[in-house]
Amino acid sequence: MVAVIEFAGVTVRRGSTLLLDEVDWFVEEDERWVVLGPNGAGKTTLLQVAAAQLHPTSGVAGILDVVLGTTDVFELRPRIGLTSAVLADRIPRGELVRDVVVSASYGVVGRWREEYADLDHDRAGDLLSEVGAGHLLDRTFGTLSEGERKRVQIARALMTDPELLLLDEPAAGLDLGGREDLVATLSQLALDPDSPATVLVSHHVEEIPPGFTHALLLRGGRVVDSGPVEEVVTAETLSETFGMPLLLRREDDRFAARRRPAQRVAQP
Ligand SMILES: Nc1ncnc2c1ncn2[C@@H]1O[C@H](COP(=O)(O)OP(=O)(O)O)[C@@H](O)[C@H]1O
Ligand SMILES: [Mg+2]
Repeated sequence: MVAVIEFAGVTVRRGSTLLLDEVDWFVEEDERWVVLGPNGAGKTTLLQVAAAQLHPTSGVAGILDVVLGTTDVFELRPRIGLTSAVLADRIPRGELVRDVVVSASYGVVGRWREEYADLDHDRAGDLLSEVGAGHLLDRTFGTLSEGERKRVQIARALMTDPELLLLDEPAAGLDLGGREDLVATLSQLALDPDSPATVLVSHHVEEIPPGFTHALLLRGGRVVDSGPVEEVVTAETLSETFGMPLLLRREDDRFAARRRPAQRVAQP
């Protein structure tokens, strides 16, 4: 097995605040990880390090057999597909969906006179179909629903045939139907052996797609637990991660969590 992420003691400090605190994390190429934690836990920071967008203050971050800081990140970044709200905001609303996807292969956001080979356009069309957005090719990005935009961003992230796919809260802002459609698409991707190693960030266990194999739980920049989903995603670890007593149900490979009601004191 080949390691795609090898973090040892990865720490990110801003002033006196520790955004990540001694994170150890090991991801292999056939694994699909979900990173869970409350708002402010450090999930986006963790993904930024994994995307070679941010260097740790201390510790060693190995990504795709490259140690961050020892090589040119501009060679590493095209090997990684990333979606995030920040990147989505940078996509011009008037850009055609086909160009949003195809322009990823040139490492640019926004189309600027490049001549794209027919092959690239064919590939963009195939990827859009794969994520259920094949019919949107000729729409402009600004006219899409939130759910459709997420699909287009995932197709864009896959365009460079990345060895590592990083998705930062792709279900944020979706309605129930949109979330369920996206979870199904991510599940399909996860179960496809040709898909790259994938890391999905979320703060809802309901968004864990079937086929995701591993979980990392983060609270206050520290790893609460990490490993295979069935060992790590439990009522106990989730309660610790989210700082409240939780009940957890698992049904048909999907999870649901809610607060554990306070115990009633038995009447004499
Ligand atoms: N540049 C920064 N300086 C200081 N604190 C920051 C900075 N960036 C993020 N933070 C803080 O670090 C914590 C982790 O942020 P983030 O990784 O975005 O968490 P998450 O994605 O889990 O919500 C948050 O409390 C956030 O306010
Ligand atoms: Mg975040």
